[in-house]
Parts: sequence; structure tokens; C-alpha cells
Amino acid sequence: MATPILEIDSLLDNPATSILVCTGSGGVGKTTSAAALALRAAERGRNVCVLTIDPARRLAQAMGLTELDNTPRRVPDIEGPGSLFAMMLDMKRTFDEVVEANADPDRAQQILSNPFYQALSSSFAGTQEYMAMEKLGQLHAQEDAPWDLIVVDTPPSRSALDFLDAPARLSSFLDGRFIRILTAPARGAGRGLGRLAAAGFGIFTGVLGKILGAQVLTDVGTFVAAIDTTFGGFRERADETFALLQQDSTAFLVVATPEPDALREASYFVERLRDESMPLGGLIVNRVQAVDQSLMSAETATAAAQRIAGESGSQSLTARLLEMHALRLRERERQHHVTERFTGAHPGVPIAQVPALAEDVHDLDGLREIGNLLAQGRAV
Ligand SMILES: Nc1ncnc2c1ncn2[C@@H]1O[C@H](COP(=O)(O)OP(=O)(O)OP(=O)(O)O)[C@@H](O)[C@H]1O
Ligand SMILES: [Mg+2]
Repeated sequence: MATPILEIDSLLDNPATSILVCTGSGGVGKTTSAAALALRAAERGRNVCVLTIDPARRLAQAMGLTELDNTPRRVPDIEGPGSLFAMMLDMKRTFDEVVEANADPDRAQQILSNPFYQALSSSFAGTQEYMAMEKLGQLHAQEDAPWDLIVVDTPPSRSALDFLDAPARLSSFLDGRFIRILTAPARGAGRGLGRLAAAGFGIFTGVLGKILGAQVLTDVGTFVAAIDTTFGGFRERADETFALLQQDSTAFLVVATPEPDALREASYFVERLRDESMPLGGLIVNRVQAVDQSLMSAETATAAAQRIAGESGSQSLTARLLEMHALRLRERERQHHVTERFTGAHPGVPIAQVPALAEDVHDLDGLREIGNLLAQGRAV
């Protein structure tokens, strides 16, 4: 069965599509794809908001994102009937806003100035993933928003699955037993439990206090006690966005390079989406070796290169060009085999391939070019 082609333009033009999520392992082109898709959708007439995470500085500048102010800004100079808003996720700011929106001012201040909160909000593994989801939820819920399509980039984690796992991990950390034990004194555990148990907790936290430092324990304790009464549970918020991601109006686009590790991650992610009943749009295979396969086969090119080198020496320019062509064809062949492993395991998943450009993508023209290539949906 031939692999179906990912029809990017029908996805972008479909008014029922309201959320696109670009995910994949580190460095494969998630941010580039998200920005390129958002620009293309806007230039084709949609009103789009793109949520980028850690874009390269030049790309951010090209989209008019010069400061990290955590709100979408209109991108000037787009060509076409739609509109494009772009923002960079400010993880700490988003976390602070959640606190401010959910606690009275005094309590919010108490949480925001808590050293444990400050460490958690800026460095806990998974916080960025959680906050990306939180921001997506906010952008989607915003009343009178000028956009009807949100394109989401995902954080640069090693595993693509972190985006789906981290919110639950963060919330179970905060709701979890470990924290409950740590914070037992702050919750008046001595009253609820027997005296013996209370004494046990006392010894336990006493030992931990020696290891972690008493101040850390107090910070964690007051933080969790404060957050517990004001948030109504991190898990609920994450669950709401999870439900949003399961709707038919969402499409996940899994991005990978034609390399074994990246495609293995893509495979895991595709399976996970199926388990979670989340809609998969398709796979983007990015940075494919660009080479004109109709020109000459690798064998012919190598044989010709050897003949010419024999006649005019190994420094011959023609011989070198022929060798380079052969190398590229072999590289393309290798990528093809690696990609076939994915298509063999997931024959129904539509694919779009994007060739590697000669230069990094750092301006609107570069994004347009990627968008065009994506829409051509070249066959595997
Ligand atoms: N098709 C392409 N041709 C040439 N360069 C590309 C292509 N796609 C992406 N790049 C470049 O590769 C680099 C990584 O891309 P990008 O930042 O989009 O990856 P990412 O998946 O978002 O990375 P991270 O996981 O770190 O967030 C960037 O410098 C980008 O310009
Ligand atoms: Mg990125």
C-alpha cells in the first residue's frame, strides 16, 4: 500500500481545524514547522496564533518577537488575507499568572515570593511542558480572540512524549505522597494521625531536614499548603487541556528527521496518540537530503568519477562533483530505508517530506519556502 501524502493545505484551510500541535524529539524542526505552518495558514486566509517555545533569536526577530512578554503580538508584513499573531512562551511568567489568577493578592504574593516556588516555576523538569499546555488552554479560552487557529510548538525535550506526560508528572508530584509527607507538619498531621505516626513523621522530616536543609522543607511546606487551598488541583487543569487535545478540531503533526532515533520517537508518539484517542494529522519528515534522482544513478556516477579521475587525476572537478552526487544519492537511499521502517509499522499515517535547505530558516521568506515544500507533500 502506498503511503498517503499529508495534505497540508486541506488541513490548514479546513475551518474545523482549530489547534495544530507540532511535536517530535529535540532539534528536528518543531519550531520551524510550527512557524511555517502558521504563516502559510495566515497567508491563505486563516486568523492564526502561533505559540513558539525558545525560537532562535533571528527567527523570533523576523516574526516581530523582540521581547518575552507572554502575549501574542501581530506579525507585520504577511502577504495575504488572513492575520498572524505570534508569541514566545515565558514559562515563569505563565506560572506566575496562574498563581495570580487563582489566589487572593496576599496569598499570591506569599506563593510568588516563596523560594521553593521560584525554583519550581523556572527549573522543574516538565514545568515548560506543563506551561505550554496551560498557555494553549488560555489562548483557546480567550474570549473575542482574533484567531481561529492556534499552532503550538512543543518544548525541546529529548522525548516527544514528555509533552503529554509532564503535566501529569508535575501534578502528581504536587499532589503526591512525597510532598504530603514533607508537608505533614504544615498540615497538622499530628492531629489527624496517631501520636506514634506523628512521631514517625517527625523523625522522618527531621532526617530530611538535615539532608535538604530545614529552610527548604519549610519553603516546600508553606508553598504546598498555600497552593493546595487555592488551585483546586493542578491535575484538573491539565485534564481540561488534555480533553481539548482529544477533540477532532485538533491535529498533531509529528516531526522527525530521517534518522533512526527521531523516527523511533515519532513511532512511540504515534502509538501514544492512538492510546489517548488524540487525532494524528500525519508525520513531517524534515531535512531530507535534497538530490535530483533522475540525473544519474549512484553506480553510474561513481564509475564515471573513477574513469575521469584515472584520466585527469583525482583533483578533477568533474570527478569530485560526480562523487558528491553519488554520496548524496546513497545518503538519500539510506534515509529512505530508515523512513520505510516507520511506514512499514504505520502504513496509514500520511507523510510530508521537506528537503534540507542549504541554510537555516531565520526569516519569513525561509518560512514560506518551508511551507511551500510542506504543501507539495512529496511522496516517500
Ligand atoms: N528543512 C530545513 N532546512 C534547513 N534548516 C532547517 C530545516 N528545518 C529546520 N532547520 C534548522 O534546524 C535548526 C533546528 O530547527 P528547530 O529549531 O525548528 O528545531 P526544534 O525541533 O524546534 O528544536 P528544539 O527541540 O531545540 O526546540 C534551526 O536552526 C532551523 O533553522
Ligand atoms: Mg524548538
